[in-house]
Amino acid sequence: MPSPTPTTPALSLSVRGLRYRVAGRTLLDDLVLDVPAGTSVAVTGPSGCGKSTLLNCLAGITLPDAGKVTIAGHDITAASSSKRAALRLAHVGMVYQFGELLPELTALENVALPALMSTTPPGDVYARAESLLGELGLDGLRASPTATLSGGERQRLAVARALIGSPDLVLADEPTGSLDGKAAHAVAELLFALPAEQRCALVVVTHAPSVAERADVVLALADGKLEGVR
Ligand SMILES: Nc1ncnc2c1ncn2[C@@H]1O[C@H](COP(=O)(O)OP(=O)(O)OP(=O)(O)O)[C@@H](O)[C@H]1O
Ligand SMILES: [Mg+2]
Repeated sequence: MPSPTPTTPALSLSVRGLRYRVAGRTLLDDLVLDVPAGTSVAVTGPSGCGKSTLLNCLAGITLPDAGKVTIAGHDITAASSSKRAALRLAHVGMVYQFGELLPELTALENVALPALMSTTPPGDVYARAESLLGELGLDGLRASPTATLSGGERQRLAVARALIGSPDLVLADEPTGSLDGKAAHAVAELLFALPAEQRCALVVVTHAPSVAERADVVLALADGKLEGVR
């Protein structure tokens, strides 16, 4: 009788030998990271150590000098620019450090926009966008022009937009940085529920100990490597 094959958890994110130098500094130095589906990682580190650069490399926005990033089985580092954009649309939800929302659009339109570029019917997209706005306490602001929202409201909107496509990998860069205690708690609750609810992987960059402590694994970026904190 054949012996049972050991089951290894599916990896939503696998990083091997990631290197990136900019302005004479090595920000990422032969960095290795595995994040199984259904789990979360928090990345900490001082300002300027390369955390946002790391997330941009993981999302295929910045191409590293060397190394390989695989998302849900797809090698994003080997793909062309248009293929990387398509992989990002299909598999990655990114909460940018500075929101990167379109100020001319309403809150609802900003959340719906990425999914409207997919094959999902627009009616379904808007229904999900409205439900995400509700979960993030932005119900009353769906028709508001994004330019009129507060910093914290925009940050919650950026979280909703990252989740609209039910991604395999959620990357969040300081998602609670401009939120007060209550709103930060609501955003952290939503983000850290995702790995179990949607079998995705979550990587959160944060300076907030109350956010980092929710992650399954806490890592610190130092001298271009990720070191285990917990
Ligand atoms: N295109 C670039 N040209 C020159 N320097 C750059 C470039 N991109 C990033 N840097 C530098 O690389 C370093 C890392 O930047 P990064 O934004 O990744 O830091 P961070 O860890 O996210 O910081 P913070 O916590 O303040 O957001 C910084 O010193 C930044 O000035
Ligand atoms: Mg940053």
